[in-house]
Amino acid sequence: MGSLSMTKPAFSLSCFCMLLLSYATVMNPVSALEKCDFPAIVNFGDSNSDTGGLAAAFSWTTPPNGENYFHMPAGRLSDGRLMIDFIAASFGHPFLSAYLNSLGSNFSHGANFATSASTITPPLSIIPLGSFSPFFLDVQYLQFRQFKNRSQIIKKTGAIYKDLLPDEDYFGKALYTFDIGQNDLGQGFFGDMSLEEVNASVPDIVSWFSSNVENIYNLGARSFWIHNTGPIGCLPYILASFPLTTAQKDSAGCAKPYNEVAKYFNYKLKEAIVHLRKILPLAAITYVDVYSVKYSLFTEPQKHGFELPLVACCGFGGRYNYGGGGCGSNVTVNGSEIFVGSCKQPSIRVVWDGIHYTEAANKFVYNKIATGAFSDPPIPLKMACHKK
Ligand SMILES: *[C@@H]1O[C@H](CO)[C@@H](O)[C@H](O)[C@H]1NC(C)=O
Ligand SMILES: *[C@@H]1O[C@H](CO)[C@@H](O)[C@H](O)[C@H]1NC(C)=O
Ligand SMILES: *[C@@H]1O[C@H](CO)[C@@H](O)[C@H](O)[C@H]1NC(C)=O
Ligand SMILES: *[C@@H]1O[C@H](CO)[C@@H](O)[C@H](O)[C@H]1NC(C)=O
Ligand SMILES: *[C@@H]1O[C@H](CO)[C@@H](O)[C@H](O)[C@H]1NC(C)=O
Repeated sequence: MGSLSMTKPAFSLSCFCMLLLSYATVMNPVSALEKCDFPAIVNFGDSNSDTGGLAAAFSWTTPPNGENYFHMPAGRLSDGRLMIDFIAASFGHPFLSAYLNSLGSNFSHGANFATSASTITPPLSIIPLGSFSPFFLDVQYLQFRQFKNRSQIIKKTGAIYKDLLPDEDYFGKALYTFDIGQNDLGQGFFGDMSLEEVNASVPDIVSWFSSNVENIYNLGARSFWIHNTGPIGCLPYILASFPLTTAQKDSAGCAKPYNEVAKYFNYKLKEAIVHLRKILPLAAITYVDVYSVKYSLFTEPQKHGFELPLVACCGFGGRYNYGGGGCGSNVTVNGSEIFVGSCKQPSIRVVWDGIHYTEAANKFVYNKIATGAFSDPPIPLKMACHKK
């Protein structure tokens, strides 16, 4: 009796569940996918995702960088966290240590090979004498290759290294994230190239990018989360550096010709990713349209709770608060020296120092992209190990 009366509801319950499941599968295939277990994150990129690489290699970041979250300079060019910090935290992982940081780093859940001022293609001039990072994407790949190999040799020696380095199987299961390209465009714009020449170099830049993705895949990487490049023409470092006619600005005040080149880069990047999916059959590659989310902060700032999107929060000079003295420097005004610090309300500002975004903007972009609404295929961050 008892067992019979138990069977019936259990049966109808499982029917109901199956109905729900198939409904979910038809209506929204993504929701039927399992969350991915990403035990580690491996990141490649530039200042958009540098958690201390360039700072460790040259000189540590200075105040007011970091002041609103870390309460001290934290190797990042922002007042607080970057998108990659929100990504790491969303998986319950600590913030990624920079591969180049030999002080206090913990790589148990991944490593960050990004450095500020990094390009995809070989830089034309390098820090400290020139302007760009020596650790361009090819070098970041070489460092990753070495990390993958030597971390395992060192981990086996035990002691503290056991807890500081990733497990061997993490490399196949990790999420590989990318945010790079902005400085290849910037290098062209600020070099002696015309806009048309920079635009014409885009296919070459993207092909260097693809080769690195292929190389990283060949070392066993399977899940890729690739950000496209942002609207560079909305940033003070472009707006304050190049003369623009009114006709060259869009309704938000951004520099259209510079954004056009960024959009062409993104178009070629997306095309390259379609090809990579064909030649790397075991890879799940998600293209993430960061451009659109960042751009919405310039076109509809009030709607998202922001103001003065074209004006640097930390800076000095001119209508973009940029060019008269860098964030964190001292400038002499009317005979007295003043420190170029943060604006009063960085939490409602988009651009931090004229080139980089505030923590508030980074968090906004992270929240939007994590849902999958800006991904191709439309897969949320937590499911980026799935191909479709
Ligand atoms: C890893 O390092 C060992 C020891 O140096 C070397 O024999 C091996 O070829 C390396 N493997 C790769 C994939 O680089
Ligand atoms: C490294 O980080 C992991 C994860 O947060 C933690 O469990 C481990 O104790 C840390 N290792 C050391 C030596 O601090
Ligand atoms: C960039 O090049 C592409 C392909 O030749 C072209 O369609 C596009 O109009 C160019 N854009 C700019 C801003 O020069
Ligand atoms: C700026 O000025 C302050 C006070 O005079 C000084 O302590 C600081 O070292 C200066 N900073 C730079 C970057 O020169
Ligand atoms: C410097 O002096 C000018 C002229 O008196 C004044 O308009 C300006 O506000 C002063 N700048 C600062 C930062 O105090």
